[in-house]
Amino acid sequence: MASKKWKKDKNLQKILEEREKWYRWKNIAPLKELVEGLPPVKTTKIEIGKWIEAEGEGISSEEVRQIAEKLKPWRKGPFRLNGVEIWSEWRSYIKWEIIAPHLNPVGKRVLDVGCNNGYYLFQLGKMGGEELVGWDPSPLFSLQFQFVNHFLQFPIEYYLLGVEHLPLTPGYWDLILCLGVLYHRSDPIQMLKELRQGLAPGGEAVIDTLIIPGEGEYVLSPLRYAKMKNVYFIPTKSALFNWLHRAKFSHWEVIGERKTDLEEQSKTPWIEGESLESFLTPDLSKTIEGYPPPTRLYLKLWR
Ligand SMILES: C[S@@+](CC[C@H](N)C(=O)[O-])C[C@H]1O[C@@H](n2cnc3c(N)ncnc32)[C@H](O)[C@@H]1O
Repeated sequence: MASKKWKKDKNLQKILEEREKWYRWKNIAPLKELVEGLPPVKTTKIEIGKWIEAEGEGISSEEVRQIAEKLKPWRKGPFRLNGVEIWSEWRSYIKWEIIAPHLNPVGKRVLDVGCNNGYYLFQLGKMGGEELVGWDPSPLFSLQFQFVNHFLQFPIEYYLLGVEHLPLTPGYWDLILCLGVLYHRSDPIQMLKELRQGLAPGGEAVIDTLIIPGEGEYVLSPLRYAKMKNVYFIPTKSALFNWLHRAKFSHWEVIGERKTDLEEQSKTPWIEGESLESFLTPDLSKTIEGYPPPTRLYLKLWR
């Protein structure tokens, strides 16, 4: 398979080998066994719209529900498998509908880094993408992917890697999606450089990230934002453009901007814990820490 080419680097192979062991963690091993022990399914229907939906013979809806519940929390989706509706915390089709008109995966080497359970990879598969690879360091999300793909059987490869590994696949990818990752990185300019390093000449990346309002070149650096302790830097648009300059992207285009609302993110029975309604003030005008509420900017970047 052509996609094996990106795995030639010895250091990358070592990292992949090491990370295979993550499936032995005591919270993960039983789930891995469950997903790997799924009975063969004869797929009878696949429908990819806002919902990613599949039906198959060989497994009952009740079995599907029980396994899906064990794989909680479902952050991205929604999915409907043998009629079982997995209402994820995020309605990922809202992001997808912003970026989809700007994507053409056909005939390209495509990577979704930070792919979570692969929601956008399935959408890219529907568009006709052939070489589709997902990286995300979370073994749980990879098992959610494997569970859904047991029904869809798309030729997508998934690895427990992160954006920091892109320098080990230099100049390889024609299209990289890196959505909702930048504000989680403690060195965002370095991350943008890594993204650029992974792109083939003429390659494109699509990213989205949190921004704050304002005309100046400022960055918010909170200890906690919307109850998240792993949000490091939130720039204004101008500050973000300065980061892109520093990372040496040749040019970029803003393809969307959207304030996160309860239609896009809210609590459902498929996650444990809280969601957006608990992260904002009751009138939704600020985060509970008093910061501007989450707004995302969507961009296409050219190497
Ligand atoms: C906010 S979610 C975004 C998921 C999806 N890309 C989206 O936009 O809907 C962040 C994702 O990044 C993943 N992640 C964590 N560390 C990462 C890393 N070093 N590189 C890439 N992704 C990472 C998380 O496991 C999670 O799935």
